[in-house]
Amino acid sequence: MIEHIFADNLLAGRVAFVTGGGTGITGGVARALAEAGARVALVSRKREHLEPAAERIRAGGGAALAVAADVRVYGEVERAIATTVEQFGRLDIIVNGAAGNFLCRAEELSPNGFGTVVDIDLKGTFNVCRAAFDELKKRGGAILNISATLQYLGTQMQAHAAAAKAGVDSLTRTLAVEWGGYQIRTNAIAPGPIEDTEGMKRLLVPALKDKLRHRIPVRRFGRIRDIEHAALFLCSDAASFINGAILVVDGGQWLATSRLLSPE
Ligand code: COA
Repeated sequence: MIEHIFADNLLAGRVAFVTGGGTGITGGVARALAEAGARVALVSRKREHLEPAAERIRAGGGAALAVAADVRVYGEVERAIATTVEQFGRLDIIVNGAAGNFLCRAEELSPNGFGTVVDIDLKGTFNVCRAAFDELKKRGGAILNISATLQYLGTQMQAHAAAAKAGVDSLTRTLAVEWGGYQIRTNAIAPGPIEDTEGMKRLLVPALKDKLRHRIPVRRFGRIRDIEHAALFLCSDAASFINGAILVVDGGQWLATSRLLSPE
C-alpha cells in the first residue's frame, strides 16, 4: 500500500479541529493532517483519551492540542473552538468524526437511545459547523463530515445511526450550498468496514468477518490509512472545486449488497 502520496507540507499553516476519540478513523485522520503540516486540535468528551494521541503527534514533530468537549453541548463546542483559536490563531479545517453507535433492533430501542445517537452524530456535526462558522468564513476552509453507507439501504439494527448519518449527508449538501460562497467547502467521507476501529468491534459479529470480507469486491477490509488519504485530499487545495461530495471509501462494498445475486 502506498504510504506517502501527497506533497510535503501540504497543509502547512492550516489549523484543524477534529472531533472523535484520539483513536480509530479520526485518530488516524488527525495524525495524517498533522503530518501534512496542520496544527491539530483533538476534541472529544474525555481529555485523558485524547492526550496520548496529542502526545504522539507532538513526539512526531507535529503540533497538537487536546480539548475536552461533548459535541452535543453547544456551549462546550464554542469553548473548544475558542481555545483552539486562542492557541493556534486561526481555524481552517473541521473534521466531524465524533459518533456513537451500537446494534439494537428498532422495536427494542428506547427513544433516548435513538436520540442519543442522533444528538452525537447529527446535532454534534451541526453544532461544530455552526460554532466554527465565524472563524472559517474569515479565510475560507474545509469541513469534512464522517458519514457511513448504512443509510443507503435498510440496515437492520441501525435505525438510530442510519437516520443520523442520512441527516449528516443532508447537512453536508446544504452547507455546501449555503457556505460555498464564503469559500467554505463541505464534503463527507462514507467509510465502509475499516479494520481496527471501534465501529468494527461494535458492529461486526466476529463469526461474520470472513463472510463479509469475501463480499467486498476488492476482497479486503479498509485500513485507516485509506480514510486518511481521502481526508487529506478533500481537505487540501487539490479538492478546491469539490463541494458537497460524499466520497464512499468502501472497496465497493455497499454496491455489492445485491438482493438478487450474491458472490456465493
Ligand atoms: N443497546 C440499546 N440501547 C442502548 C445501548 C445498546 N447497546 N447503549 C446505550 N443505549 C441507550 C441507553 O439505554 C440509553 O437510553 P435509556 O435512557 O432509554 O436507557 C441511551 O442509549 C443513552 O445511553 P447512555 O449510556 O446514557 O449514553 P452515553 O451518552 O453515555 O453514551 C453511546 C453514548 C450510547 C452512543 C455510547 O455507546 C458511546 O459513548 N459510544 C461512543 C463510541 C462509539 O459508539 N463509537 C462507535 C462509532 S461507530
